[in-house]
Amino acid sequence: EDARKEAAFEARIAAGDFIEAKDWMPEHYRKTLVRQISQHAHSEIVGMLPEGNWISRAPTLKRKAILLAKVQDEGGHGLYLYAAAETLGTSRDQMLDALHSGKAKYSSIFNYPTLTWADIGVIGWLVDGAAIMNQVPLCRCSFAPYARAMIRVCREESFHQRQGYESLLVMMRDGTEAQKAMVQDAVNRWWWPSLMMFGPADKDSSNSEQSMRWGIKRISNDDLRQKFVDATIPQAEVLGVTVPDADLKWNAETGQYDFGAIDWAEFWRVVGGDGPCNRERLATRVKAWDDGAWVREAALAHAKKQATRAQA
Ligand code: ACO
Repeated sequence: EDARKEAAFEARIAAGDFIEAKDWMPEHYRKTLVRQISQHAHSEIVGMLPEGNWISRAPTLKRKAILLAKVQDEGGHGLYLYAAAETLGTSRDQMLDALHSGKAKYSSIFNYPTLTWADIGVIGWLVDGAAIMNQVPLCRCSFAPYARAMIRVCREESFHQRQGYESLLVMMRDGTEAQKAMVQDAVNRWWWPSLMMFGPADKDSSNSEQSMRWGIKRISNDDLRQKFVDATIPQAEVLGVTVPDADLKWNAETGQYDFGAIDWAEFWRVVGGDGPCNRERLATRVKAWDDGAWVREAALAHAKKQATRAQA
């Protein structure tokens, strides 16, 4: 019976059909989606921290309003994504428990510190730029609730990318020498971690083959990384900054940029919990959860009271 259902499922995938939450799906497909969507949700929520760090220190009211809106958007993305993962039969408590106990992964990028105001612009430009590159193909993910969530998320990410790039343009055009140097320094620190966001090289990507076959991933880690480099280098030229890669070179034959080797040891160290800010990020999330316990308890008590009153 299951073999028959599986064959029907594979046929739907092969035909380019989208799968809804209540449709039959193989257990492994369900697990892969819960893994990826929950990691993605955790990334959005943890991703609020490096930028939240600068809300109280934004240089102008305009920049502060933009940054506040952006950080709130990230919180909203996390909530859509937790909701999409819940449709697969896992509870939000289970997912958060996995995050808080250090079992769940979230994007390596959010374990780096935001040292100066220029980091905020560079995160918008490079980090959100990389996120869009990775997430646009997810709008066609075979699991429809995830694909639908990605459409709105990508629209908002595109605003995030533009606000970051624009703030850097202002600093590079009208700024002092010190401000320009601050932008270049931020680019130097964020460039390689941004390239790592796309995940391990295809040959070392344990989940890619199956996820590509199922239409969960549409474009491979390495192909997305290449597209990101090709799109970003001309933007760096307009901005007047360089990227810290001596091997970066236009290749007229392939019509792409060749670029240097990624430090995979650093990548795996950060993924494994030993990056510059992993402990701080996790501790901040756990504290926020613990500090909010009374709100959850009060909301539950209130809901219970309302329900009893409605019965009476
Ligand atoms: N940071 C942390 N862990 C990573 C990263 C990264 N940058 N890249 C890969 N990994 C992990 C994978 O989660 C996987 O771990 P697991 O098997 O224990 O779950 C392992 O490394 C091997 O990688 P892959 O086999 O390539 O994993 P996968 O097929 O899931 O591809 C990718 C990774 C590309 C990140 C994919 O999960 C994805 O597209 N996710 C959705 C997008 C997302 O999460 N973005 C978050 C950052 S953007 C933002 O929040 C603004």
